[in-house]
Amino acid sequence: MSGVRQAVVLVGGEGRRLRPLTDTRPKPMVPLLDRPFVEHQLDHLRRSGVREIVFSCGYRPDALEAHFGDGARLGMRIGYVVDPEPLGTAGAVRNAEPLLHGGDVLVLNGDILTDLDLAALTARHGATGAEATIVLTPVEDPSAFGLVRLRAGGQVEAFLEKPTPDQLRPGEPFLINAGTYVLGERARGLIPDGVACSIERDIFPGLADRGVLHGHSDDAYWRDIGTPLAYLQATADALAGRLRTIPATGGAHVCADAQVDADAEVDGASVVGPRVRVGAGARIAGSVLLEGARVGADATLDGVVLGAGAEVGAGARLDGAAGPLVVGDGARIAPGAVLVGPGTVPTGGAVAVGEGLAPAR
Ligand code: GTP
Repeated sequence: MSGVRQAVVLVGGEGRRLRPLTDTRPKPMVPLLDRPFVEHQLDHLRRSGVREIVFSCGYRPDALEAHFGDGARLGMRIGYVVDPEPLGTAGAVRNAEPLLHGGDVLVLNGDILTDLDLAALTARHGATGAEATIVLTPVEDPSAFGLVRLRAGGQVEAFLEKPTPDQLRPGEPFLINAGTYVLGERARGLIPDGVACSIERDIFPGLADRGVLHGHSDDAYWRDIGTPLAYLQATADALAGRLRTIPATGGAHVCADAQVDADAEVDGASVVGPRVRVGAGARIAGSVLLEGARVGADATLDGVVLGAGAEVGAGARLDGAAGPLVVGDGARIAPGAVLVGPGTVPTGGAVAVGEGLAPAR
């Protein structure tokens, strides 16, 4: 694929927005369907001909290395670097440099679910002669993002952080940074060594000023799984076959060693993880039940991420329809308790009847 053989996957962030799930695992190890989220990215890279990966780690690096090792199981070569302190997205790429061969590399945020055509991206990068190419994705409302404005030839003209309506031009496409880049050797050489800095804020503006930063967008599926709502939406999208790279399941994903009572209902936007048990009369909608979780008889869960080994007592009602409920690993929800989201139950926490995140109406 246009000579790009290596990818740096940025996996060192603390993932604060996904707490408490990320208290016990780094964000890239949060499962999506049947495997850690980042494994879907590795599958996509491998299918695109990129088999050499550097994980640029920081927070909880051991979990990644314990799961992926040297990558041989996936037919890849995986190396690891660990930030001595949080280095930001650019510093984390610079830290990986000793493991890179030179030339162009792909850089991916480790929390992006996409079916982007990576071969088309790297071909485009090669054809324009850009020093860096940034993947862009369209949004309806750019006010919460950094808008990237392109010139007619595809060069980045400007970055507008959280633009106000008067800064927008009539009819212009609202394109934002999709967290996937091709960085040439010269662009990487601009990153200072051992200093915390950001690709978007500290490196790209200078490249854009020199006209050597290009933007690339297509109609790919794209979602950042960094919040509970986005994570549940990404799960539903993957189950429904909305990505070209993950086949539709035709219903819920239920692991082979899970036990779901014949009288329980699990809808098609839900995942029942390994060794989970769901009791008779329980109803699960738009929820993810992680490894070893238990749901008692007649309990209802809607819009819930239930942590590994967490237990929901019989008849409890967890209603995340207005905003997701995230129950930390090993937490216990008493029989008959009612919780209304959005909100979280801490890792190992306990909720008794009458207690709640928000009073039930
Ligand atoms: P929040 O704390 O919820 O904002 O999540 P995050 O820490 O993952 O931050 P963010 O979503 O902005 O990061 C984008 C990607 O870059 C993620 O895949 C992070 O793992 C990664 N990342 C962010 N900061 C660093 C860093 O300092 N070092 C490394 N190695 N990776 C980072």
